Amino acid sequence: MVRKRTAILISGRGSNMTALIEAARDPSYPAEIVLVVANRPDAGGLQRAAEAGLETAIVDHKSFGKDREAFEHALQEVLQAHRIEIVCLAGFMRLLTAWFVAQWPERMVNIHPALLPDFKGLDTHRRAIEAGAKEHGATVHFVVPEMDSGPVIAQGRVPVFADDTESALAARVLAIEHRIYPLALKLVASGRVRVENGRCVIEGPVSNQEAAFLPGAAQ
Ligand code: GAR
Repeated sequence: MVRKRTAILISGRGSNMTALIEAARDPSYPAEIVLVVANRPDAGGLQRAAEAGLETAIVDHKSFGKDREAFEHALQEVLQAHRIEIVCLAGFMRLLTAWFVAQWPERMVNIHPALLPDFKGLDTHRRAIEAGAKEHGATVHFVVPEMDSGPVIAQGRVPVFADDTESALAARVLAIEHRIYPLALKLVASGRVRVENGRCVIEGPVSNQEAAFLPGAAQ
């Protein structure tokens, strides 16, 4: 098996990044994490990545001013220089242009802390509580030009309790993020996720436990 060369893009602490790095320590995992890129020099995850022995890079969006395309071209150059095949956005807080997205068709995935299509955008946990949602969660999806909108690969659900605080709910969601992101990357890297009419179809058998996270798996 040739493992897919994968880059993780971060802006912050990188706990999802760490979950992916840990999964990929298993030599039979189909993705190899070869690079972590941050758009902020102070992203806490950079140190964690370096401690894990990974190569890191900083492409600081601030040094490109308002020129989003120049920033993205610099990012693309770094990814190409490392012969990256799959890009994982893990708490990467920059919107990407249609040009950049088009460089990675069905090869760039994102994790969003909500049950998409509900609660796109920011402050998802506060908004879920305010909306009186009984259920909340996280979604891993392919990236398309429209924000938080691509085909859903995996989704994990958690209950919302009547007396929930934003931080308690965020912690519950984060724990499920750390389960579904490694699962989604495993399936994408092994070529088992096909997009059909805008929806993901998972090929081959999955365990019952995995099926609970995979809307596109055969029942
Ligand atoms: C995660 O909850 C992720 O889902 C969210 O940021 C957090 C990053 O945490 N992503 C977004 O909100 C993307 N719009 P981490 O740095 O510990 O992985």
